[in-house]
Amino acid sequence: MSKLFTPGKIGPIELPNRTIRSAAFEGMCPDGRPAPALIEHHRQMAAGGVGLTTVAYAAVSPGGRTFSHQMWLHEGIKDELRSLTDAVHREGGAAALQLGHAGFMADGAVTGQPVLAPSRVLNLFGLNLPRPMTEPDIAELIDAFGKATTIAKEAGFDVVELQAGHGYLISQFLSPYTNRRKDRWGGSLDGRARLMVEALRAVRAAAGSHLGVIVKMNLRDGFDGGLEVDEAVAVARLAEQEGADGLVLSGGFANRTPWYILRGDLPLDDLIAGERNQLKKLGMRLFGKLVVECFPFEEAYFFDLAQQVVGTVDLPLVLVGGLQNRLAIDRVLDAGFDFVAMARALICEPDFVVRLKQPEPAVSRCEPCNRCVASMYHGEQHCPL
Ligand SMILES: Cc1cc2nc3c(=O)[nH]c(=O)nc-3n(C[C@H](O)[C@H](O)[C@H](O)COP(=O)(O)O)c2cc1C
Repeated sequence: MSKLFTPGKIGPIELPNRTIRSAAFEGMCPDGRPAPALIEHHRQMAAGGVGLTTVAYAAVSPGGRTFSHQMWLHEGIKDELRSLTDAVHREGGAAALQLGHAGFMADGAVTGQPVLAPSRVLNLFGLNLPRPMTEPDIAELIDAFGKATTIAKEAGFDVVELQAGHGYLISQFLSPYTNRRKDRWGGSLDGRARLMVEALRAVRAAAGSHLGVIVKMNLRDGFDGGLEVDEAVAVARLAEQEGADGLVLSGGFANRTPWYILRGDLPLDDLIAGERNQLKKLGMRLFGKLVVECFPFEEAYFFDLAQQVVGTVDLPLVLVGGLQNRLAIDRVLDAGFDFVAMARALICEPDFVVRLKQPEPAVSRCEPCNRCVASMYHGEQHCPL
């Protein structure tokens, strides 16, 4: 018996099935505010039968954004967020909000604020040299994670997801490549994980017992000198100790190995066309193919690594990455994972979950050409298929 269409729980939240729409930047927050298109997008996801739909990347503080059309979570947008969660709930779905800070992936020209990171490590993608965070910066950030959770709860979200992977700020602290600090926020894994632990404590405290809390984390950063799976297992245990209700297992580092996150084709022309900064455009044109390492797309491409976490924690585990086919999804769920998260299959077909229900094992139409990734520059989420 497949468990795909059986109910599952994330903390206090019961979901009707084991499918999650993975956080995937929609580009639908002009000037940081959710537009009606974002509400409609997630309404469609819920109407398509997904158990939990995750609204991508809300920065917990204004300096944590890469794009001007990326959400900054503050009191002033609560009404729009309430409309979104109401729309999802009316369709019988549940809504999650991903909370994060971009660290050195933030764009100072967009935020008007200094670009922060654990250490002064040159970010070739953003062409910036960030400022190492001070103790007051870190205290302010942890507080911001708590406040953002309160806003998410008051806006009607069922779950919040802490973005601790993909080379964003918490991941920059976790990674030995970007965290060169000698103080209590660096060094051993306990030091490098301290920001995740403290942020998670603040999120858990604000979430209380009515909101689910999940952590998206890396199994590997995807390059030598980055976080490896043995440390990821320890990170998973720490997240469990701090009260997480589930873990989303992913990998890759946005400014070093972005295609380790995604796999498949690199739509360089589309990405160059979307970039507004002329210097970055030129850099991408000249060095794009050399700098962005490609990784072939495979079904459930984090499955083998993620199995090393199965059995080490007693938490619902969510696998993400290349889940586009009913037979593979069943294999993953049979192997001890509790949920599957999908981004591109649902961008391509918002009602893919309906097809997954059919007796003939469904296979997504996504190729994956990854042109949806380039489309996020333009304030939409477009699948050319
Ligand atoms: C257009 C696009 C935008 C994405 N934006 C985010 C994001 O904001 N936060 C995040 O954690 N992952 C982001 N991702 C990664 C996805 O959540 C997911 O981890 C990845 O696409 C692999 O899943 P898939 O094979 O089902 O697409 C994005 C992916 C895509 C395709």
